Formats: sequence, C-alpha cells, structure tokens
Amino acid sequence: MANDLNTRLQEKVAIITGAGSGIGKATAINFANHGAKLILNDINKKRLNELLKEIHNSEDHIIVEGDISKEETANQLSEMAIEKHGKIDILINNAGIHYIEDITDVTPDDFDRCVSINLKSMYLCARAVIPHMVKQEKGSIVNLGSISSFVGQEMMGKSTFLYNITKAGAVQMAKSLATRYAAEGIRVNAVCPGATKTYQITEEHTQGIVSLEDFWDGAGEAQPMLRAADPSEIANAILFLASDESSFVTGTSLAVDGGYLAR
Ligand SMILES: NC(=O)c1ccc[n+]([C@@H]2O[C@H](COP(=O)([O-])OP(=O)(O)OC[C@H]3O[C@@H](n4cnc5c(N)ncnc54)[C@H](O)[C@@H]3O)[C@@H](O)[C@H]2O)c1
Repeated sequence: MANDLNTRLQEKVAIITGAGSGIGKATAINFANHGAKLILNDINKKRLNELLKEIHNSEDHIIVEGDISKEETANQLSEMAIEKHGKIDILINNAGIHYIEDITDVTPDDFDRCVSINLKSMYLCARAVIPHMVKQEKGSIVNLGSISSFVGQEMMGKSTFLYNITKAGAVQMAKSLATRYAAEGIRVNAVCPGATKTYQITEEHTQGIVSLEDFWDGAGEAQPMLRAADPSEIANAILFLASDESSFVTGTSLAVDGGYLAR
C-alpha cells in the first residue's frame, strides 16, 4: 500500500519529528506518496539522509537535523515550512525515546531528559505551529501516544512508568488543545500504538536479559493479534487523522494495538 501513488495529502505541508526511523519514517514515506511536502526532523542526520534516498519526490522535502526538545529546533521547523511553503497544514509529534527502569533507579536527569524529548517537544512544536494554523483557520496535529498512555506496564521485570507518564501527557495534550482550538479549525488527536517493531527498543534497553528478537516476539504475543505491528500500519492511522478524511474527529485517541486495550 505504501508504494501506491495517491492524493490524500495533495499540496499539504506537514512537519514530522523523529522521521528518521520506525513510525516516523513510515509516516514520511506514506505522506510523500500521498502528495505532501514535508519538513522532516530527526536528531540523527544519517537516518534523514537515508530517508531522502527512499522517499517519493525527495526534492519537495526539507530535512532539519536537531534535538526536538530544544526550542530552537521546534521553531526552525515551523519557520522552514512558512519560508518555503507559506503554510503549515499538519504537525506529527512523533519523536520519542523509551525508558525502562523502576522509579528508585530513575535519576532526576533521566526524568528531565525523557520528559523533554517525549513531551516538552510536543508542546514546543505545537506552540510554534498553532499561530500559523489559527491564521489559516485550519490545521491538524497528531501526537504519538501509546498503549502506555492508559495502563501501567512493566518490561523485563522493570517499570516503564517514566515513559508511560509522558505518553499519558501526549493524550491529555491532544484533548486540551483540541477543545481549545476546535472553533478555530484546528484538530488535535493522538495515535496510540501497541508494540511496533522499530528501533525504539535497543540492546541498551534489553541489557542481555533477553535477545531483541525474543523481546519483540514476547511483546507481539501480549497483543490479541499475537504479533507486533509493522510501522506502516501505524502510519496509515496517522495519515487518516492528519488528512481531511477525519474532518469531524478531534480530541480522540486512536488505539492501533492489535486489540491490546480491548482486554
Ligand atoms: N515502537 C513501539 O512499539 C511504539 C509503541 C507506542 C508508541 N510509540 C511511539 O512512536 C513514536 C516513534 O517511535 P518509534 O517506535 O518509531 O521509534 P524509533 O526509535 O524507531 O524512532 C524514533 C526516532 O526519533 C528520533 N529521536 C530521538 N530523540 C530525538 C530528539 N531528541 N530529537 C529529534 N529526534 C529524536 C530517533 O533518532 C528516531 O529516528 C515515539 O513517540 C514512540 O514513543 C512506539
């Protein structure tokens, strides 16, 4: 499906954070296939350059390397969109990191880093684009939540509480911005994936407790569909909420989790 040329985002200008891998990359490829012009951020320039080699109409897109938890990076994304295209239709707040550690082992620095990358980045990017969307009387923002937005979770015997609270914040931010800006034409929603095979979990997280392959097998089996998602399956849900097809949908959280939250 991702290779079919289509027009669901024709002439739309979209910012995607954390576009270098996983769900962000699949979203970038999907959006480009549907005619969007993209401003693509990641902290990893190599990944962005690789993405440009794979994406449809690569000359239409701009890459902005930088840490999205920094105000200057968030501002730069919206400035580039306005400078090049004169508008911002879509913001996908996707960049994020996982964190697996019990509260007693989380340092205040860890806490600040995870909250900054996962949640403060969403605030900074939304703050930068909303004035333009208000002027346009139109815009769509999608925050990446998670099944962890809604439930307590442990992995490999340790809590994921720090990650979970940032993902709960992503959902709450979508609701709060949705109600505030609904009358001004801005829609804000969250997509909440279940386990999706990406670089989100690395050997740094599994620390030799299990192999990465076993980790993903286990995470997949915890979902009623008995498998992990492919990033393109999450990207399709993001495409729906970003596009005009969801014109009466705002403040909602769309679980894309193989049935995990239905239990
Ligand atoms: N993979 C899953 O199972 C899963 C489940 C639920 C939610 N999510 C969410 O989906 C989103 C995308 O994650 P993914 O699974 O594709 O992971 P990923 O690690 O494959 O991709 C995340 C990208 O964000 C980039 N990034 C990290 N820190 C950054 C920073 N400070 N500034 C800019 N870019 C930065 C990384 O370089 C990477 O390219 C995240 O918000 C994640 O929490 C993932």
